[in-house]
Amino acid sequence: MALERGLASRAAFKLEELLARHRLVRRGARVLDLGCAPGGWLAVLAKAVGPKGRVVGVDRAPCRAPAPWVTTLTGDLKEENIRSAAYEVLGARAGLVTCDMAPRLSGVRDRDQQAMTELLELALTSANEILKPGGAFVVKVFMNADLKPVVGRLKTVFSTVNLVRPQATRRGSSEMYVVASGFFSADGLCDRCAK
Ligand SMILES: C[S@@+](CC[C@H](N)C(=O)[O-])C[C@H]1O[C@@H](n2cnc3c(N)ncnc32)[C@H](O)[C@@H]1O
Repeated sequence: MALERGLASRAAFKLEELLARHRLVRRGARVLDLGCAPGGWLAVLAKAVGPKGRVVGVDRAPCRAPAPWVTTLTGDLKEENIRSAAYEVLGARAGLVTCDMAPRLSGVRDRDQQAMTELLELALTSANEILKPGGAFVVKVFMNADLKPVVGRLKTVFSTVNLVRPQATRRGSSEMYVVASGFFSADGLCDRCAK
């Protein structure tokens, strides 16, 4: 089954560990997963919320939904239309937004770093638009100088912000996760989105 296959990846183990350690999601919750293909995180999220929950995954690449209570949308999150569509499928504000978006790497360090920072900004915008008060946000990041201001901004809209490294992370990897909870500001995506 797709749900079981998706649970097997290392990335999936890391997310599972974070969700359990920080108690980020409950059964029946609504979750938005940004950059969901090929679907490893979606499988973990589907298992965490169960059949009474709802998970929406968005990616530029097509991705199969691992369970009937998961919907995947294909499109670029830079487009407001795709973020509105995700909100409409969720049916209400989300309790958790997760983000594992990564750019197509060019091999030019500065350009790639800038692309990663832009995606991080986009993830922040999406979380701000779609999270409900008290909601949580998990985003994969790489340690670099651009991270500090982003963490500072997160602290203005979440009551708790932690930079964490799951145990399942390979030694030497600069990969980290920002885990933010207690969202207390809601910008609203559009008129249709109830506060
Ligand atoms: C590392 S993969 C995600 C892996 C996924 N979390 C999993 O567990 O299977 C990064 C994804 O980010 C997506 N992505 C990058 N920029 C995007 C954007 N602007 N809008 C939508 N998806 C994007 C890519 O298409 C790619 O599939």
